Amino acid sequence: MPCPESREPERKAPGLNARLVFAICAAAIGSGFQHGYNIGVVNAPGKLIQQWINVTDYARSDYAEVPTEASITWIWSVAVSVYCIGGMIGGSLTGFFAEKFGRKGGLIVNNIFAMIGAILEGFAYSARSYEMLIAGRIFIGINCGLNAGLAPMYLSEISPVNLRGAVGTVYQLVLTISILISQILGMENWEWVLKYFGHIF
Ligand SMILES: *[C@@H]1O[C@H](CO)[C@@H](O)[C@H](O)[C@H]1NC(C)=O
Repeated sequence: MPCPESREPERKAPGLNARLVFAICAAAIGSGFQHGYNIGVVNAPGKLIQQWINVTDYARSDYAEVPTEASITWIWSVAVSVYCIGGMIGGSLTGFFAEKFGRKGGLIVNNIFAMIGAILEGFAYSARSYEMLIAGRIFIGINCGLNAGLAPMYLSEISPVNLRGAVGTVYQLVLTISILISQILGMENWEWVLKYFGHIF
């Protein structure tokens, strides 16, 4: 495939084509979704996770001492906020990844962080380890920090000049939609949403 830049002078106003739309959707949904979803996902089940931290810590002390409210809040706060630490690490690695693997390659390699994070978070409950939840949040944070740099870079570089502004906003759009989705999925009565949509369609 010829380089898009080399074709640009011949074309008056290159529009969207199926391949470009696919690349935009894949990059934006594959990265922006991860980013927004993990921002929002811990909000709704917060109380449940704190209860779980309580139970886990209580069991570890052989039911000798009840964990204090402060210690539970501390662990919970760390679990929520290390995501941002991971984000800072990921954001700082953006330049390195973009140069070493390329924009697309960087986004693909970045999935390793998402997978490690998902495995750690997914098995934290059965392993009765909130440390795994915290470690998973760091890895997801690194993934999202890298996404936040690589995906908009990739999107603006693959789009023709006249579409660059519009395509550049797609990442933010997907990010906010995925925050909404994470909140809806976290709602206790989320079935209601499905029923509601069921009435429309
Ligand atoms: C933690 O669990 C213990 C034992 O079930 C309970 O007595 C205590 O109220 C819980 N603490 C909090 C902050 O929920």
